[in-house]
Amino acid sequence: MKRTVPIVAGVCLCLAAIGTALAAGDAKLGEKQASSCNGCHGADGRGQGPNPPLAGMKEAYFIQQMNDYKSGARSHLFMQRLAQGLSDPHIANMAAYYASLPPPSGKGK
Ligand code: HEC
Repeated sequence: MKRTVPIVAGVCLCLAAIGTALAAGDAKLGEKQASSCNGCHGADGRGQGPNPPLAGMKEAYFIQQMNDYKSGARSHLFMQRLAQGLSDPHIANMAAYYASLPPPSGKGK
């Protein structure tokens, strides 16, 4: 019976870590998850062509835009389809990642 104690403790720690990631967003995970975004949004999310920069964007603004695309409150065919496939924790991670980057030439949102 005594052997189960460390396992239970380990599970609890792991759940706590997941809880933190849900609440705040993990920038490291977000960096990996955002690699497909940067194809359009530029290296390090600095923006290119018609694709707006994401680097330096405030987390709350980023999450709001993604949720607006999801719900259709903000319409853009591609971004809506994309956002609809993303979970809330996934979006929170990317929000943390982009917020951690310096905005290109000082124009952050
Ligand atoms: C095919 C190119 C393309 C890809 C890939 C792409 N985006 Fe976009 N994204 C756009 C365009 C174009 C816009 C501007 C749309 C509009 O006018 O609403 C945009 C807008 C946004 C905005 C709003 C920016 C603002 O200034 O309000 C966010 C946030 C965003 N994208 C996040 C992402 C994330 C996160 C990913 C990856 C999961 C991603 N995008 C992948 C083309 C792309």
